[in-house]
Amino acid sequence: MYPDTNSESARLYQRARQVLPGGNSRTTVFNAPYPIYARSGRGCLVTDVDGVERLDFINNYTALIHGHLHAKVLEAVQEQLTLGTCFANPTESEIALAEELCRRVPSFERVRFVNSGTEAVMNAVKAARAFTGRRKIAKCEGLYHGSYDPVEISLDSNPDNWGKDDPTPIPYSAGTPQGVIDDVVVISYNDVAGAERILQSHAGQLAAVIIDPMPNRCGLIAASTEFLAMLRSFTERNGAMLIFDEVITFRLGYAGYQGEVGIQPDLTTMGKIIGGGFPVGALAGRAEVMSVFDPSEGKPSLPHGGTFNANPVTMAAGLASMRLLTREAFARLNALGDYAREECRRAFRVAEMPGQVTGAGSLLMLHLTDKPLRSYRDAWRNGQEQARFARLHRNLLNNGVVISSSGLGAITTPMGEREIDEFASALLTSLKELRREELASA
Ligand SMILES: Cc1ncc(COP(=O)(O)O)c(C=O)c1O
Repeated sequence: MYPDTNSESARLYQRARQVLPGGNSRTTVFNAPYPIYARSGRGCLVTDVDGVERLDFINNYTALIHGHLHAKVLEAVQEQLTLGTCFANPTESEIALAEELCRRVPSFERVRFVNSGTEAVMNAVKAARAFTGRRKIAKCEGLYHGSYDPVEISLDSNPDNWGKDDPTPIPYSAGTPQGVIDDVVVISYNDVAGAERILQSHAGQLAAVIIDPMPNRCGLIAASTEFLAMLRSFTERNGAMLIFDEVITFRLGYAGYQGEVGIQPDLTTMGKIIGGGFPVGALAGRAEVMSVFDPSEGKPSLPHGGTFNANPVTMAAGLASMRLLTREAFARLNALGDYAREECRRAFRVAEMPGQVTGAGSLLMLHLTDKPLRSYRDAWRNGQEQARFARLHRNLLNNGVVISSSGLGAITTPMGEREIDEFASALLTSLKELRREELASA
């Protein structure tokens, strides 16, 4: 049972704290009182260092769309490993993965590879600035786009600081330069009229508007068609770049989420699934905009290096992973997602617990509230709500299922209805346990 102070995970955590700040390298994998350490994964299962096997419904924060150790991905990686892991030369593998991505997505004319979603977003913002000659960007309150400081503005605003009506730009980490804060315009997600009014007051100064079209930090609610259409039309009219951050949503369709909604951004950022389980990021978009990186005619307006950019191991794994993602594979995965959300709704009903499941395609998010969610402010959880969710999360772990601590879950290709049924049954048990715990402490 988790937590257990005598477990191997608890011991590793104590050891980790001696050499790593707070015991880790990644805030998102910390879980109080200690994180569960993984030993191995296979398909849709992950085994921890104490030998406990669980269904992996988070698959490294949605990155492993084929689960752990998919044979085709392993084969591609093993073949590359016999040839070398990285060179001070480009390799054909990066051309092949770029071709695969451009073939799928109409808005992709050129691609640039980096090592993480954070770097993809940073370079997309810098490309927009270099292309437009402007400094400011606009982003939505509460949305996560990785760890580049301009896009962290207002990432965790709360009722004490988010402002009465229009969102106040709030720095996320201590030491954020005032200049960074001044150059970020914050709009409310899905508020068509309010956001357009704010954008309009900075028209002519904005290099880009960045949006994740289904952000889990707004409860995994899709951006409305009207909101996306407004952003597309505003940016077109005012010479700003529209950036879709598809680091997570690229797993929602054959041509990413933009293919599902039929809106073409100028630039798109990706990560996670396109690396087949290896560190990756990429930005892609209009050739004219991407030419800011082009060194073929002298110093480009945006010089950009990176020792491991497009490293062939990642490229090989990514290509194998993407090739498996045919239109049929997406249809199956997304149908499984519909089934999972339906079964979760049933679990809430049977447990007689107010709650809901949001999401689309192979993504879902659990909430312990049935109030309508449309924006960051709706989805924001206070301390008491977070504590309730932490109990549900712990119950799920003890019933054999891993999701994120905020309730995000992702379905992978090795899963079938059997795994979804196991997940739904673990959710039902966990909800009943939560109900009992709450009654007992009332
Ligand atoms: C929408 C979005 N953008 C950017 C990132 C950053 O990607 P990475 O963790 O690879 O730096 C993430 C990570 O989860 C993300 O969800």
